[in-house]
Amino acid sequence: MKKYKIAVIVGSLRKESLNLKTAKALISLAPESLSFEIINIGDLPFFNQDLEATPPNEWVTLRNQISAVDGLLFVTPEYNRSVPAVLKNALDVGSRPYGKNTWNGKPGAIVSVAIGNISGFGANHHLRQSLVFLNVPAMAQPEAYIGNAAELFDDHGKLTNDSTKDFLKSYMEAFEKWVQTIAQ
Ligand code: FNR
Repeated sequence: MKKYKIAVIVGSLRKESLNLKTAKALISLAPESLSFEIINIGDLPFFNQDLEATPPNEWVTLRNQISAVDGLLFVTPEYNRSVPAVLKNALDVGSRPYGKNTWNGKPGAIVSVAIGNISGFGANHHLRQSLVFLNVPAMAQPEAYIGNAAELFDDHGKLTNDSTKDFLKSYMEAFEKWVQTIAQ
């Protein structure tokens, strides 16, 4: 069975992040052909083209990590109806220098997670807009909007809601097929 490496990019830096908990649940429910690495995007200096002459080590690390994977799983909260700045910064850092877009062509999937019931719809779709430009084919269906997320986990961060578990499992099965179809 061919194995595929997937970078998991979480848009929240909080230790108790519901998005991080969801990302871990997604990883645990995924088919065996997918392996995962959660990428640290919290230490990336803000993108500034002037720094490209001697790119910060954190930028180089991110670019190498993304270059090495076959697919991308984004799990993000919504901040003010868009994606958190830390996630946008990671997209920008990975997209440069000009002509060396590390995201290019990698199959992606987007899960938005929120405490409210609009479920991060705005962030989910703003992220899709950037991914179009970055040439990341983002899985269209199923869509994943996880609302009321504070009610889904126990005190140890374990997903306890059975219907969400079933949904996330089927989502990862669809993502496996998407990766198999698109990854080179
Ligand atoms: C939020 N939150 C939020 N929620 C939402 O549904 N739509 C929004 O536009 C916003 N905006 C927003 C801005 C900022 C600056 C913060 C800190 C929060 C609430 C957000 O969904 C909630 O804090 C989640 O729990 C964040 O995800 P993590 O950190 O738990 O993964």
